[in-house]
Amino acid sequence: MARQVPARLSSDAEVRSLAASSLVKLFDSLYEGAVVIDQAGRITWINDKYKALIGWNGSEAIEGRAIEEVLPNSRLRQVVETGQADLLDVLTVGGRQMVVSRIPLHGEAGNVIGALGVILYDRLQALKPIVSKFQQMQSDLATVRKQLADGRQAKYRFSQFVGTSRLAAETKEQARRAADREGAVLLLGETGTGKELLAHAIHAASRRAEGPLVTINAAAIPEALLEAELFGVEPGAYTGAGTRSRSGKFQLADGGTLFLDEVGDMPLSLQAKLLRVLQEGEVEALGGNRLRPVNVRVIAATSRDLKAMMEAGSFRADLYYRLNVLPIRLPPLRERREDIAMLCETLLEQIAEQGGEASRTLAADGLARLGCHDWPGNVRELRNVLEQAVAQSDNRRLASADFPMLPETPATPEKLSVSLASSVESRVRPLREVAAAAERLEILRALEATGRVKLHAAKLLGISRAQLYEKLSSLGIVSGEADI
Ligand SMILES: Nc1ncnc2c1ncn2[C@@H]1O[C@H](COP(=O)(O)OP(=O)(O)O)[C@@H](O)[C@H]1O
Ligand SMILES: [Mg+2]
Repeated sequence: MARQVPARLSSDAEVRSLAASSLVKLFDSLYEGAVVIDQAGRITWINDKYKALIGWNGSEAIEGRAIEEVLPNSRLRQVVETGQADLLDVLTVGGRQMVVSRIPLHGEAGNVIGALGVILYDRLQALKPIVSKFQQMQSDLATVRKQLADGRQAKYRFSQFVGTSRLAAETKEQARRAADREGAVLLLGETGTGKELLAHAIHAASRRAEGPLVTINAAAIPEALLEAELFGVEPGAYTGAGTRSRSGKFQLADGGTLFLDEVGDMPLSLQAKLLRVLQEGEVEALGGNRLRPVNVRVIAATSRDLKAMMEAGSFRADLYYRLNVLPIRLPPLRERREDIAMLCETLLEQIAEQGGEASRTLAADGLARLGCHDWPGNVRELRNVLEQAVAQSDNRRLASADFPMLPETPATPEKLSVSLASSVESRVRPLREVAAAAERLEILRALEATGRVKLHAAKLLGISRAQLYEKLSSLGIVSGEADI
């Protein structure tokens, strides 16, 4: 059969009108609802599905009415007014939420002559997987934001700084006074002596406690990035700086405290810029040309000998004096051995809490062994050693043998008596344990006094050499070189 040839070609206008009516049919079938308004915001066409959705009574004419009269929340009129499409939005119709799309309709001359609104989904239900993913992302974002905010709050209080020795008490007292005042604080002490702990405690007890506490570690950040981290970056400051400005730590700490850790590791060029900020109270971001005022209290810390560095020319004298307003020295643990027992108690409780198990305690010889070590890593090292012992041993009371990681330095009487004295003070213990500790101490003293010649030591102690050997092994005392 011959193909039907159209009698004549349609005119442009006819094609357009045919296209328009077939598109309208398409909308009608494709979407849950479709409505067209004219330039004046009156409905010119609405499909039956939409009418059903809004419960329109079939007897009354809907065409010619203002769109808002039928759909009070409609934003189609704005689309006509602005000529801007709204490709995705949520519209509440009769208490139900619908996903809608709105596009302007243009006339021959390109002018807006009306707008088309379609309901893409009348049940958000259909979008549930996407919506729940979105909600998940929102809640993740909220969590991260909260973590960020938490990260800017003090983690420690003064009560967490354990120690009743004279040195510890003095340090704590100085720190309390610093909390009551304004002005830079400089925390000086070996690694692990509690500088960070005190910085947090000072902030938490200061008038700025409600403000942020922001930390930056000059030793942990590559020199090239440190300036941007501290002072912020303006767009285009350097290749790869990005198109948005980024706040520096100074700005983030506005109204609060900036903890400048390992300040002794700061390069000289940045020391000059830091000094300027401290003097002027204004920061200038990298690549910026604007000074912003900031209200920040600086607590600096270092394990280095800043004074020696200053004398050697690697730390600026003017910055040193600027930071050294309220210097606080944190004593190393070996200078306050009497605090070891109490520290162990606290640290063992913390470790137990983390591991969700009952807290361990220390047997007398365990404490004695800890009391003899010199702790170059201070409280941090003590914590690590206790953690290791807890992980490796099943003993409820950790004994000397549970600390094989400590070098077997023979105890000196002072070291031992100090740790024993404090442990006796802090808790009443079974006599058997006390007796063992006393024996241990006396044996060590005898060994010390006799140059570790066991025969002589045994004589001093009034026991036989064999008995001494027995005690050495039962008390876990390292037998020395001289085995006479
Ligand atoms: N006096 C103290 N009492 C209790 N815990 C302490 C004390 N000093 C330090 N710590 C703990 O030791 C670890 C190291 O302390 P930190 O403040 O980071 O030392 P630093 O900053 O001087 O290296 C942390 O876990 C801290 O909680
Ligand atoms: Mg530190």
